[in-house]
Amino acid sequence: MSHEVPLPPDLYGRGRDDRFLRFLDAVTRFYLPISTRSDRYGRRVFPPEPGPLRLVVTDREAAAEDVVALRLAAPDGGPLPPWQPGAHLDLDLPSGRRRQYSLCGDPADRSGYRIAVRRLPDGGGGSVEVHDALHPGARLTVSRPRNAFPFAGDRSVLLIAGGIGITPILPMAREAAARGLDWRLVHAGRSRASMPFADELARLGADRVELLADDEHGTPDGADLLGRAAPGAAVYVCGPAPMLDAVRTAFDASGATALHFERFAAAPVTDGRPFTLRLRRSGTELPVPADRTALDVLREYDPATPYSCRQGFCGVCRRQVRSGTVEHRDRKLTDQERAAGQMLVCVSRAPEGECLELDG
Ligand code: FES
Repeated sequence: MSHEVPLPPDLYGRGRDDRFLRFLDAVTRFYLPISTRSDRYGRRVFPPEPGPLRLVVTDREAAAEDVVALRLAAPDGGPLPPWQPGAHLDLDLPSGRRRQYSLCGDPADRSGYRIAVRRLPDGGGGSVEVHDALHPGARLTVSRPRNAFPFAGDRSVLLIAGGIGITPILPMAREAAARGLDWRLVHAGRSRASMPFADELARLGADRVELLADDEHGTPDGADLLGRAAPGAAVYVCGPAPMLDAVRTAFDASGATALHFERFAAAPVTDGRPFTLRLRRSGTELPVPADRTALDVLREYDPATPYSCRQGFCGVCRRQVRSGTVEHRDRKLTDQERAAGQMLVCVSRAPEGECLELDG
């Protein structure tokens, strides 16, 4: 059956045969019914979200002291979903832990994703598991790329990375170089041996990249780092909390105009008040001090307590609250989820003296 209908007349009332309008007409007729599909009750039906990916580790190499770089690909070698600089993946590790790692390869290479992970023996166990368990041939479930740290491609850019924080920053440098932007990059770390991707960075622009090893130069402060920003530049930072705090504190006095940052560790608790968690099944009461998170306290009680980002955006630490008033501090839950008693325990708290009863 043909859907072709005459095009509307032109400004002067004459019939016309505009190929572009015919193309637009065809596209609209094809896509509109899909985007406005309804169920039998007339409710709008959206296409299902694409599911996670099953990937295989195809390559593994030491990228620096205690840093391993992994390449993940589809088992059949097919192209992977696209991503932009700043994007990350959620990896479901064999133990059931879920951890997020920034993509640090080349977005133009759709045949594989690269991540790099520093081994943190005193961390939550995720990085140690990546180092010990993910060898070529290992299969794992991985989310599609998500981006909570997008690169806007500003004309003048200062990129600042601390340690393994180079992972989201490296693709930004690659894009800045490819687009001919005015960019500079400072990578600070404990020592040169501990800082991955130095050669790759140098190939992007040796005169634009600076490596600052603490054991040679001492630890740079925020004003030092921002001193590299051209007037009006946008600044992108990823690194440990002390570096982010130093840059944020010094930012207003710098000539830069915009600050974008990503943490790879939990932010310290601010304006916290002590409260109590009660576990419904056992009746156990766990006091949460003003300077600790409910997640920290739950993990101390049960080290298998799930978590991932520790910043209130992934949803992995979600718990059901049976009674008590929650002070929501996350960026993930909807009003309905909050009203239904859900809570992200990595960031959300309760007023002073409150007792929150949790399922489990
Ligand atoms: S761990 Fe990600 S939201 Fe709590």
